[in-house]
Amino acid sequence: MKEQLSNILREAQQIYFQIKNLEELENFRIKFLGRNGLLAQISDSFRNLSLEERKEIGKYFNFVKEEINKLYLEKKEILTSPQKIIFDLSHPGIRKDRGIKHILTQEIEEIKKIFFTLGFNIEEGREIVTEEENFDSLNIPPNHPSRDLWDTFWLNKKNYLLRTHTSAHQVEFLRKYGVPIKFTIIGKVYRHEATDQRHEMQFHQIEGVSVGEKSNLVELKSIFKIFFEKYFNKKIDIFFRTSYFPFTEPSLEVDINCFLCQSKGCQLCKKSGYLEVAGAGMIHPFVLRQASINSEKYFGYAFGLGLERLIMLKYDIPDVRLFHSTDLRFINQF
Ligand code: DAH
Repeated sequence: MKEQLSNILREAQQIYFQIKNLEELENFRIKFLGRNGLLAQISDSFRNLSLEERKEIGKYFNFVKEEINKLYLEKKEILTSPQKIIFDLSHPGIRKDRGIKHILTQEIEEIKKIFFTLGFNIEEGREIVTEEENFDSLNIPPNHPSRDLWDTFWLNKKNYLLRTHTSAHQVEFLRKYGVPIKFTIIGKVYRHEATDQRHEMQFHQIEGVSVGEKSNLVELKSIFKIFFEKYFNKKIDIFFRTSYFPFTEPSLEVDINCFLCQSKGCQLCKKSGYLEVAGAGMIHPFVLRQASINSEKYFGYAFGLGLERLIMLKYDIPDVRLFHSTDLRFINQF
């Protein structure tokens, strides 16, 4: 009887593949599952079995019935579902989005390349530095009013802070390399200040340092010219204005001509015709001495650029906070 049942199941499985419409399906149902169907007929003969045999065969009977019922329901689902085409080999696949490098990463890579070709070593430094590195070594002693230029995130551990500028590593790398040397430090800095369209608590700086017997502001100006022309891919003029930083003497503010309005005056340059792009100057002898460099013989220039500001100018980005947003519409456009 078991064999009979398994033959019935096999037959049902074979017919299942040939069913093409609801009528054939109904015949299938009647033949196997109907009141006078094959299964019903076989169950009639259970009466002649002993209790023991009935138990065993009953189990198998139920299994076969369930399998055939599944076939029936499966085919019914296929024949009645509105989507008749199950495989369309010409249908395009689902495209998986691939991640891209964040705009900050892309630009950092580009800027590193430019400075590398200009002969600068590339450094990053640490984001947690000592008060000594961030201030004292740069001629900014405790209680000096110029410390107010950098609103600082102090850490619980005494004398430690989140670097407020990449200048914090000037002395460290001058000591490490000795002179003559040219290097840049590119990385994140932190300021304890309110955020708005043009200010962020965290942003990136590019620090440049060059020390040698002949380092001077003329060289600095040509470095800037080459850098900005390569970076913005435009002809750029460089302008120096006097300024004040405790670690440079003289200190400079660096402007370029506004390339949006050809210096006629627009919103970007706030009608001035110029764009402020960097702080710079000749390294103060005090700083050179911190690195045990003979400040009578060696001179150096240094500069600090704000990365986000450069990118905002290059791509006309209106709000610095977008760089740290998770808005994929912003991120994916670059
Ligand atoms: N560290 C300065 C700041 O964050 C920027 C700067 C100015 C860096 C002049 C320099 C420099 O190396 O010479 O405001």
